[in-house]
Amino acid sequence: MSEVLPMTAMTATAAPADRITVRNLDKRFRGASGDVVAVDNVSFTVRQGEFVALLGPSGCGKSTILNMVAGLLERSGGGVAIDADPVVHGAINRKVGYVFQRDTVFPWRTVEANIGYGLEIAGDSKTARAAKVQRAIETAGLSGFGRSFPRTLSGGMRQRVALMRTLILEPEILLMDEPFGALDTHTKLEMHKTLLEIWERERQTVLFVTHDLGEALTLASRIILLSARPGRLKEDFEVPFARPRDPVALRESAEFGRLYSHIWHSLGEEFRRTKAD
Ligand SMILES: Nc1ncnc2c1ncn2[C@@H]1O[C@H](COP(=O)(O)OP(=O)(O)O)[C@@H](O)[C@H]1O
Ligand SMILES: [Mg+2]
Repeated sequence: MSEVLPMTAMTATAAPADRITVRNLDKRFRGASGDVVAVDNVSFTVRQGEFVALLGPSGCGKSTILNMVAGLLERSGGGVAIDADPVVHGAINRKVGYVFQRDTVFPWRTVEANIGYGLEIAGDSKTARAAKVQRAIETAGLSGFGRSFPRTLSGGMRQRVALMRTLILEPEILLMDEPFGALDTHTKLEMHKTLLEIWERERQTVLFVTHDLGEALTLASRIILLSARPGRLKEDFEVPFARPRDPVALRESAEFGRLYSHIWHSLGEEFRRTKAD
């Protein structure tokens, strides 16, 4: 037998590249009655193709962290890098797509015109846009609604439009701030299914903010758990469920229930601390 290493041993040494690096991140807001510490010394890394959930109770600083990663908000201390390039406040990075908490579709544009907005800004011709927009509409399950205006759609459908408006630009890195937070449970599960199907295919690097443990366990490969305000890193752990995942079947499984209740003890403590404030 020759001394050839098995393939697994060889590939195991080539770790995926770091895409998002957050080091000793701090944020203080100036208030009338003194400074509010929103984020306190947070460090983590998101590697190529990872789906990471940033999980913590409301007000713990999740949006603040995401906005500093996106360069939308100035840091008080520490650093953020995308692909080892320092993030500069106010600078646009075309590798990064952002999906906001509230649906941010333009009410005066049709579904098609909303989804194609970024391509229009980028200078794509009408014909070049049309095919991409049509594919995005099908992916989102919005066939037949291309000419509809947002006011005629449900909240879930509007959020699908917002999602596709970002995804059509093919961002390598996707930052999402509780994008399904306003949706009812049933609609949320349908959105999870759609997002997972897209992610299984594209494998974007995702940083997904949520206060919903079930959502984090359904979607993420890794969960970064933050403490109640000021947001500090409390735990960082892998989510072991196999892929592809079916959100409904996964939630009904015993292993999901076990992990949920295990983490809940940790998270529940954080929620009680928030209420005591
Ligand atoms: N622009 C701001 N000015 C002052 N305080 C803010 C501002 N933005 C957020 N905060 C405070 O920072 C803390 C974290 O907020 P945020 O990041 O929005 O929490 P989360 O997204 O986890 O719900 C909260 O106490 C919030 O009130
Ligand atoms: Mg928030």
